[in-house]
Amino acid sequence: MYFNQISVEGLGCLSYVIGCPAAKACMVVDPKRDIQDYLDIAREEGMRITHVINTHLHADHISGDQELRAATGADIYINGSGVTVDYVHKELNEGMVFELGAAKVEVLHTPGHTPNSISLLVTDKVRSDEPEMLLTGDLLFVGDVGRPDLPGAEILDEQVKNLYNSLYVKLADFPDHIEVFPAHGQGSLCGRGMSAKKSSTLGYERRANPMLRFKSFEEFKSDVTSAFPTRPKSFTHIISTNKAGANLLDACPMDKALTPKQFEEMMGEGAVVIDARNSAAYGGFHIPGSVNIGFEKQLANWVGMVIEPGSDILLVVDDQEDYDRMLIELHRIGYDQVFGYLSGGIMAWLNSGRPVEQLEQASPHQLSERLGGNLAVVDVRTPAEWKGARIESAIHFPLSDILDGKLPDLPRDRELVMACGTGYRSNIAAGLLRQQGFKNIQSLAGGLFAWTNAGLPTVS
Ligand SMILES: [Fe+2]
Repeated sequence: MYFNQISVEGLGCLSYVIGCPAAKACMVVDPKRDIQDYLDIAREEGMRITHVINTHLHADHISGDQELRAATGADIYINGSGVTVDYVHKELNEGMVFELGAAKVEVLHTPGHTPNSISLLVTDKVRSDEPEMLLTGDLLFVGDVGRPDLPGAEILDEQVKNLYNSLYVKLADFPDHIEVFPAHGQGSLCGRGMSAKKSSTLGYERRANPMLRFKSFEEFKSDVTSAFPTRPKSFTHIISTNKAGANLLDACPMDKALTPKQFEEMMGEGAVVIDARNSAAYGGFHIPGSVNIGFEKQLANWVGMVIEPGSDILLVVDDQEDYDRMLIELHRIGYDQVFGYLSGGIMAWLNSGRPVEQLEQASPHQLSERLGGNLAVVDVRTPAEWKGARIESAIHFPLSDILDGKLPDLPRDRELVMACGTGYRSNIAAGLLRQQGFKNIQSLAGGLFAWTNAGLPTVS
């Protein structure tokens, strides 16, 4: 049997290729939208991709199902409980079995994260007739379980009941040694506290996963509904795109090097400018109104939280390689209207005589010398981070609140220095506050990380 796990860092998506080189066939489970990895594996192993399986209707990334079908002719499978998908597919039902040579894959309906969530019980018949592993989709993660709230508040109660039954009743049939391979790992917003490890066993999760250790349904329910992770703006759009079947990437606008004039015209028509350079470069000079979302593990999640889905997007990047990287990240989460990048970068814009803005980056030492005057530090980290070490006089206003449209009641006549963990989120916050009319804004370069490394004091 052939088995391989493919990981997308940042978004925390895990997909799988399961098949049999002797039988020359394989399936791809929960594919990402950029499918080259799967095509390479299939070619190298001499297998044809015959089946594409979605373990559920994904909210956090665009499925690569349509791309794979177009490239290979494979059939797409999904369960239809509580959802009608609009593309041609085959129904996945409880008890269905796929035999691909040595690989035997059985479908279990395990709702709770979504009504149509399934898990796949995999047997390597070369080794044994007993199942070896369970692909749990977004039911059970390493160290966590799938969040039940994404399909909507109207069915939350039913979802929580289903999640409990799937985890505590249905999975109870299976022995401890079964290996667990989830659809997500650390970084994903489909859960709250996933481990960095990408697989586990049922036995270990039963011992160490706090979400499998509740004594009653009531305790489970109260915990699982106590706090939900952020729901990025992109999720609703991704769900409807996956329901309809995503457009092929070939249909997306072709990448283009745009002149400052073309850039400006498109901005005039409402295009959003994402400046993907590092925070210091953005601080130096940037196009007024652009948002700084640079390369960082969580880049795609930040785009999903900050940028309105469906927006026309223009990019400011350092080079073509960064543009290509950024394009993949954006396409993975359904931001398809990316029209191009600024040819010649920010200097071409500046040299053309167009106005630029700066976002002053205060170094930790500069900030420390100026503390106390007409200056306020606004810490935009999460409440959990805030409870740890912080700058004593800082005001707390989490970025998530600004993203939710809450405007901080901050003194507009004072200089405001945004601070976060590393200087990444503070630039995003500064950009958003400027759009809200705040003028005198700066960002703490390097964030609390650089501040502590400079030996400057914090309180907790
Ligand atoms: Fe999910």
